[in-house]
Amino acid sequence: PPAGTLDIVIFGGAGDLSFRKLLPALYMAHLHDKLDASARIIAVGRQEWTRQEYLDFIDKSSPAFIEKDAFTADDWQSFLNRLAYVSMDVTNANDFQKLKDLCGTPALRVYYLATAPSLFTQICAHLSGAGLVDAQSRVVLEKPLGTDLASARDINSQVARYFDEQQIYRIDHYLGKETVQNLMVLRFGNAIFEPLWRAPYIKSVQITVAESVGVGSRAGFYDGAGAMRDMVQNHLLQLLCIVAMEPPISLGADDVRDEKLKVLRSLRKMDLADIKRDTVRGQYTAGASEGAAVKGYLEEDNVPASSRTETFVALRAHINNARWANVPFFLRTGKRMQRRESQIIIEFADQPFSIFGSTAQQEPNRLIITLQPEESIQLEMMVKEPGTGMNLHPVKLGLDLQQSSDKRRAEAYERLLMDVIKGRLTHFMRRDELEAAWIWVEPIINGWAELDDKPRAYSAGSWGPAASSALMAREELSWFEEA
Ligand code: BG6
Repeated sequence: PPAGTLDIVIFGGAGDLSFRKLLPALYMAHLHDKLDASARIIAVGRQEWTRQEYLDFIDKSSPAFIEKDAFTADDWQSFLNRLAYVSMDVTNANDFQKLKDLCGTPALRVYYLATAPSLFTQICAHLSGAGLVDAQSRVVLEKPLGTDLASARDINSQVARYFDEQQIYRIDHYLGKETVQNLMVLRFGNAIFEPLWRAPYIKSVQITVAESVGVGSRAGFYDGAGAMRDMVQNHLLQLLCIVAMEPPISLGADDVRDEKLKVLRSLRKMDLADIKRDTVRGQYTAGASEGAAVKGYLEEDNVPASSRTETFVALRAHINNARWANVPFFLRTGKRMQRRESQIIIEFADQPFSIFGSTAQQEPNRLIITLQPEESIQLEMMVKEPGTGMNLHPVKLGLDLQQSSDKRRAEAYERLLMDVIKGRLTHFMRRDELEAAWIWVEPIINGWAELDDKPRAYSAGSWGPAASSALMAREELSWFEEA
């Protein structure tokens, strides 16, 4: 394709993320005329392929990840016309000349680094060395951004040598999910919740990101990471920030990120005693997932038989500020859980006094925000059971977000890629936010090592180890699971 106004260069262009998420997202943007006619997508990969070989590979691997209704052979073909491929060794500075030859001088260049983070520094250095970085360039950094605070800081400092903070888009795709963005509207666009959105009116908050999938073919990466680094450090903490932050003064990127940063910095540090009491690590054993028998984690491909990597984490966190004093935040995530379900549950305080008598079943009000698989917001309330007497039962006032508008709902990656192109940083992590998240998470990971903590077994298809329920039961609470 000839050079145009926008080049999106994807490093790791033949990788998993590209063909599963990035290219399908860009296809949808193309289909809905959100990409300039001359915008090009330049995939960079190690494979010594010609452009045609790359297109054949994408043609085989990507369409399965595109919604059926949105796929037509003609549109797909016109999308493929935007694609170019450069085979290069990104550790070799000379190879960047090939990219330069192809690039020309578009008005805007977006470099998407979907490679191992160990390559980020070299890629940025070589891009800069080849004269491919200017004020119109933006770089997108995929997670994992480091494996601890030191490595995250190192990546940040290295990338900062070549790009200003305003040019750096640290992606956390949970921030691109419609319901996560909607949570800001729920909180700050409605007058009724915010006055109650604090202690003592809220008793506890639960954030669950349950997956039914196992580690799949990703053990090479995952076994060195575990659920804490893979999910809690980023996705769950970002959700916690949006639930807990003070109203930002505007939707400007720094205004929102300043508030999220304050939440991260207010997280109460855990010492060894806290870690022992308030965290649970789990690892799945053989079981059943969605009706089929599945292997345990230790039997998965490329997992060492002695692995102690956690595939499940539950923990109780505290935010040391006036709004959240003494309100526990329970976070939980795991692979091979009973079903795929991501929910935020805001549990309101109990009625201070009940006129219905001590035997009346009285549940607290709960706001149930479901991110996936379906998006909805429900408010659990008590109503009277029909008939004589004053018996109560809980019902849900429900808002099905899918039904609430006929507008198309884009996937997280599409929305975030469009933000990068438009230069909107609000839904990306700033450097200090990322580091603050590590500052809280790292001592927990180190604490587990110090305590020689072995993950507790849970069968695939369950809700995690029994200790996870015990964590809640201690406070006469329980995880919210619909029957
Ligand atoms: C990724 C993790 O960031 O998020 C994966 O690396 C996880 O392990 C995935 O499966 C979950 O994303 P989603 O959008 O399917 O909930």
